[in-house]
Amino acid sequence: MVAVNFFADSQTTHLVLVSTVNHIARLRTFVQQMTGLVQSAGSDEPLILREGGALLHELVTHDDWLPEQFSAPDPQRYRQYLLHCDPYERFSVVSFVWGPGQKTPVHDHTVWGLVGVMRGRERCEEFAIDPARGVPVKTGEHLIDPGGIDKVSPTVGDIHVVCNALADRASVSIHVYGANIGAVRRHIFADGAVQPFVSGYANSVTPNLWDRSGAA
Ligand SMILES: [Fe+2]
Repeated sequence: MVAVNFFADSQTTHLVLVSTVNHIARLRTFVQQMTGLVQSAGSDEPLILREGGALLHELVTHDDWLPEQFSAPDPQRYRQYLLHCDPYERFSVVSFVWGPGQKTPVHDHTVWGLVGVMRGRERCEEFAIDPARGVPVKTGEHLIDPGGIDKVSPTVGDIHVVCNALADRASVSIHVYGANIGAVRRHIFADGAVQPFVSGYANSVTPNLWDRSGAA
């Protein structure tokens, strides 16, 4: 949303353009688009990953809308801030913030997910369950730069480790999952054992997407 005001400078008689960009509108638009997508796509996961990935790419190519409190790193561990949860919990949007050197454990999601890097650089290590031993083994790794999109799900590959690839600053990515991800029962794989976990969220309040009084 862009509010544009023209006014005449009485001293110079020049027209002056004042543009105030309502940056949070980018997230509001994304939430509206994702809501429409999950409504129309139903259980068509490939469609959600394809179309949702394009929407997320558009969102993370603009690093001007995420309120500072939802991009704040923690010196102890990476943070997951809830930005929006669909009222029927069909999807949720979170910001992930890694300080230098921080990384996730080996974990799964159990639902579809999209990862879009917006700031910094992240490294993703992919894992798959070794059918003979029943433990995850590393199958590859790749870097994700701003604008890059990763996809996860039990059907396309669901186990990974993600870390900040930069040693001198935080990295931030925006994730979308096919559930209220902070309340999903998932798994961490460590030392040959499978541990259940529920991630929760680092925040207790979410951004206000709906103050459109300026435009009104
Ligand atoms: Fe993950």
